[in-house]
Amino acid sequence: MSEFSIKELLLEGKVLQEVVIKGWVRTFRSNRFIALNDGSTINNIQCVVDFENFDETLLKRITTGATLEIKGTLVESQGKGQKIEVQVSDLEVLGDADPDEYPIQPKKHSMEFLREKAHLRVRTNTFGAVMRVRSALSFAIHSYFRENGFVYTHTPIITGSDAEGAGEMFRITTLDAKNPELNENGEVDYSQDFFGKETNLTVSGQLEGEAFALALKKIYTFGPTFRAENSNTSRHLAEFWMIEPEVAFLDLVGNMDLAEDFIKSVLKYILENCKDDLEFLNKRLLDEEKTKPQNERSELSLLEKLHFVVDNQFKRVSYTEAIDILKRSKPNKKKKFQYIIEEWGADLQSEHERYLVEKHFKCPVILFDYPAKIKAFYMRLNDDQKTVRAMDVLFPGIGEIVGGSQREERYDVLLQKMRELDIDEKELWWYLDLRKFGTAVHSGFGLGFERLVQFSTGMTNIRDVIPFPRTPQNAEF
Ligand code: 4AD
Ligand code: MG
Repeated sequence: MSEFSIKELLLEGKVLQEVVIKGWVRTFRSNRFIALNDGSTINNIQCVVDFENFDETLLKRITTGATLEIKGTLVESQGKGQKIEVQVSDLEVLGDADPDEYPIQPKKHSMEFLREKAHLRVRTNTFGAVMRVRSALSFAIHSYFRENGFVYTHTPIITGSDAEGAGEMFRITTLDAKNPELNENGEVDYSQDFFGKETNLTVSGQLEGEAFALALKKIYTFGPTFRAENSNTSRHLAEFWMIEPEVAFLDLVGNMDLAEDFIKSVLKYILENCKDDLEFLNKRLLDEEKTKPQNERSELSLLEKLHFVVDNQFKRVSYTEAIDILKRSKPNKKKKFQYIIEEWGADLQSEHERYLVEKHFKCPVILFDYPAKIKAFYMRLNDDQKTVRAMDVLFPGIGEIVGGSQREERYDVLLQKMRELDIDEKELWWYLDLRKFGTAVHSGFGLGFERLVQFSTGMTNIRDVIPFPRTPQNAEF
């Protein structure tokens, strides 16, 4: 008798085949029907026990959440809802789950409740589906870059620089928290610290990625990044995963083409390879939408949204055009936006991004050529001297999913910019070196992985698409 995953059995199991399966009980009905799940698929397999043949104390232990090993025969199902089922000949409880204590019961639990049980929530249909889609997306991302000749690059997690210049970093230190060494000025003396200087968790692998692109031509990173921004929103995490391709000899237009092609390709992959999970999530979202007032409901279902993105061209719009649209928009005139757009130069908030995508263009939008003042120091300055070759990809329901740019490859221009912004030349000496020795036009972007998973699964809160979320005041598990 061989052991099978439930996915294998449901796909290619043969009637009269003897099987062994292991998994967790989802439900046990009428002292007879066990719905067993082993995480290989959203679908359960029905296992039928003849209670006359089993000890009553054993049957009592078949409760939601318990671990079972089942031996039996595959048979055609008599009931509705499944083609095949397992006629159980032997059953062992490998792990009990006391129903008075086990928190995940077969009923609707709120997302907030499940976040507090993040070690168990992955045993629910919703989280199982989300995490399988997340895994499939990771695979699709690596295969996209591999097929297109990119070198996978591991950039450091501990760094001395602040790539985004936003000062939202977590400090790394081994100094005594109560009694750190001090310098002559009474400040913490980081020269005594582990690395001999102040270090942080990285906010982006881009800067090191650029060094590699200027040698290996096409590279990408895919790793954890950390931001100590105190944003308690449904789109921000303190620890998230980012994909950052960086390509030599590529300009901003090429960068937009790459971002669009890349996103479409990975979404197409899950549409083809995660059918059961996406169908489940699609239905889940439809049910959730029904609880909302009519005017707040989404026009498209999850699957329609995914197909829409794959099948339609992203709209490319300059920042300047976007500001004109926003200034003339109803919510701006009626002061419905929290931040009213008064003039060119204003930073766009998520309400503005969502207006452009969801109300005005009704499709993904790539905004480009932003004012230099609201973007990072490394972006290439345009000839107008006031805008930079930046691009953000904006998605319905999410807002910004990608941020990127063509990089400033001219030594003098970069140096001047760093001086204006008071960026430490001594810390980034090597980044300037890249412009001194064999510089080249180059571009790249960062895709927030969890925002992509959010879009792909229709989950409202970013905390529900990462196994164990880290957010302000929360680092449990
Ligand atoms: O726009 P950002 O800050 O760009 C960069 O870090 C560049 N260095 C990327 C590059 O050009 N190589 O971040 C990129 C993306 C955002 O568009 C967003 O999707 C995601 O990362 N992101 C977050 N996701 C979750 N939680 C947060 N706190 C995030 N901050 C950014
Ligand atoms: Mg950004």
